[in-house]
Amino acid sequence: MLNDYTTTRANHYILEHKKEINHQFKPVNHFSAEMGWINDPNGFVYFRGEYHLFYQFYPYDSVWGPMHWGHAKTSDFVHWEHLPVALAPDMSYDKDGCFSGSAIVKDDVLWLMYTGNIEQEDGSIRQVQNMAYSKDGIVFTKIAENPVATGECLPKELISSDFRDPKLFEKDGKYYAVVAAKHQDDVGTIVLLGSDNLIDWTFESIFLKGTPEQGIMWECPDYFNLEGTDVLVMSPMRVARDKYHFRNINASVVLTGKVDWDEKRFKLESIHELDHGHDFYAPQSLLDDKGRRIMIAWLHTWGRQLPPHELQHRWAGSMTLPRELTLKDTRVLQNILPETLEALPMIEMNQNLTKTGFFEIEVNGRLQMRLGTLDDYISFGFDEEEGVVFIDRKHLKYKLKGDETWQTDLRSIPIQAKKLVVVIDYNSIEIFVNDGEETLSSAYYIEGDCYLSRIV
Ligand code: FRU
Repeated sequence: MLNDYTTTRANHYILEHKKEINHQFKPVNHFSAEMGWINDPNGFVYFRGEYHLFYQFYPYDSVWGPMHWGHAKTSDFVHWEHLPVALAPDMSYDKDGCFSGSAIVKDDVLWLMYTGNIEQEDGSIRQVQNMAYSKDGIVFTKIAENPVATGECLPKELISSDFRDPKLFEKDGKYYAVVAAKHQDDVGTIVLLGSDNLIDWTFESIFLKGTPEQGIMWECPDYFNLEGTDVLVMSPMRVARDKYHFRNINASVVLTGKVDWDEKRFKLESIHELDHGHDFYAPQSLLDDKGRRIMIAWLHTWGRQLPPHELQHRWAGSMTLPRELTLKDTRVLQNILPETLEALPMIEMNQNLTKTGFFEIEVNGRLQMRLGTLDDYISFGFDEEEGVVFIDRKHLKYKLKGDETWQTDLRSIPIQAKKLVVVIDYNSIEIFVNDGEETLSSAYYIEGDCYLSRIV
């Protein structure tokens, strides 16, 4: 036996232990697992009239561990139904984790492509791509042909031990996956794999190679066409930072450009950090039944302190709200879905017990708001002198420091703010500036009754 992880064991464990979790900081309007640790959204897809969301999941503890795929679905992006665990690391080709991946529907069957993480006897890592399918959207079967793509298919300039996070798409009757791969030059690379049947995969091209300032590895790529523009989204590690950008050691970026489909290369035109808060990573998108491009991300990031774990609350991590992506010139806007906004309670200013809800505020000059108690709070707003929208976590009691060796309490983004839409939900704040031109998403853990007030 490889290990004793199975979906059956995970499902039993959750059933038996989910009552033991502490809900103090757990969001109610954002997706989080019933218990345990979550990170990246995976396999976000429309299937038979519903939206399925899978996620990196370790049910047995509130820290990262051998990765399973948790699973939930929604029909309205507001109410989520938890489903049985979809994948467990129970095969030789994924024994140390079913890492991130994606989903696609073919002939009314739901297919998943994911990375198998394998720790070899000499301690080195091998990452391979695998497929699983489901006819009912609940129980998944890993195919006998796994692994369907290994590092051996990559050109020699790539390092096959970092080869992960396939995102599937279909174009002109053929299936493709953009996959993250590390380059010998210590830069991020996205490769393109292709298949006619989702089972036999071949290397197609180096879709995009990064530069040293753009980070050492690009995790979780996503590719789609948005209103005629080609878009790549990914999460680079260790991008060169400045005062406002890339202050989290791992960030997420949106690239616009044009794909040359003869060469199968992405020609980069613009690059922008996707979110300027403290906690936003590994976003993934789907196309909904109305043709909207909807993205969801992990509302946390690597290497940071985690109060729900330290306090043994038995859960950790949640997703952002689903966001609609649209294009304005070369910029990708991110906005809350109208149906989500409608379902959220409206928050009044100077209201006690503010745990969840949203408010909208016109900005005419300086704006400084506070959420929390007298000596435990976050502040946020618009600093008119500097011309930035900001979130400041310096006055929080539970410090949320990370691997960064520089200041991370304050995050801000230069923008002439006219309007903010602010969503808070027990442990998180998401700010949408000027109808989605910028967003800032951050976690916080404040005990006691939160009070929302305007200071300036
Ligand atoms: C991104 C990531 C992925 C990997 C997964 C493992 O957050 O590091 O590259 O597949 O998490 O949980």
